[in-house]
Amino acid sequence: MASLLLGSLLMVALAINPASSKLVLEEGYTVSTVIDFNKFSSPPANRVHPYAIVPLLSSRDLVLLDSTGSTFYTLSFPSSEDKEAEIKHLSGNDKAEFLDGDAKVSSFNKPKSFAVDEAGNVYVADRMNYVIRKINRSGFTTTIAGGYSRKIGITDGPAQNASFANDFE
Ligand SMILES: *[C@@H]1O[C@H](CO)[C@@H](O)[C@H](O)[C@H]1NC(C)=O
Ligand SMILES: *[C@@H]1O[C@H](CO)[C@@H](O)[C@H](O)[C@H]1NC(C)=O
Repeated sequence: MASLLLGSLLMVALAINPASSKLVLEEGYTVSTVIDFNKFSSPPANRVHPYAIVPLLSSRDLVLLDSTGSTFYTLSFPSSEDKEAEIKHLSGNDKAEFLDGDAKVSSFNKPKSFAVDEAGNVYVADRMNYVIRKINRSGFTTTIAGGYSRKIGITDGPAQNASFANDFE
């Protein structure tokens, strides 16, 4: 009886505050701000809402996704500390649409994630268009999968006939 009671008291305690005994604070790390977008005063940097960042394998640059604006940027790190990072538009026109072509024409619809290959091409899970897009180094955008189907589904096969979920990454 006593141990049963103890058992149920413990369960209650765990249910009310499950995380309290599970924090493991590991010391020895340092945090520093690399880029503060609030400090930029001119476009495009001052309207970027960073959502995801992936390094370009061939350089020190990063590819940055502004998911709110459905737009991609590249970030170049300065050669010395007194210079600012450079933010360049890569692809997307700040509108949630579906258009391929040149950097300024192309548009995406709320992509959440992307990958980069060794040549610097960016592959985008264009979530609300249900397709996979490719952005080349010049910012030219094409649709490489789901272009025929363009609907929610789980179809495999030739890429343009394939379909994806609306939360795929
Ligand atoms: C990107 O694609 C466009 C259109 O096909 C082409 O004109 C351009 O040269 C390509 N850029 C690179 C870096 O491959
Ligand atoms: C892929 O879609 C196209 C366009 O709808 C269609 O003509 C073609 O037969 C499809 N291919 C397959 C393998 O389903």
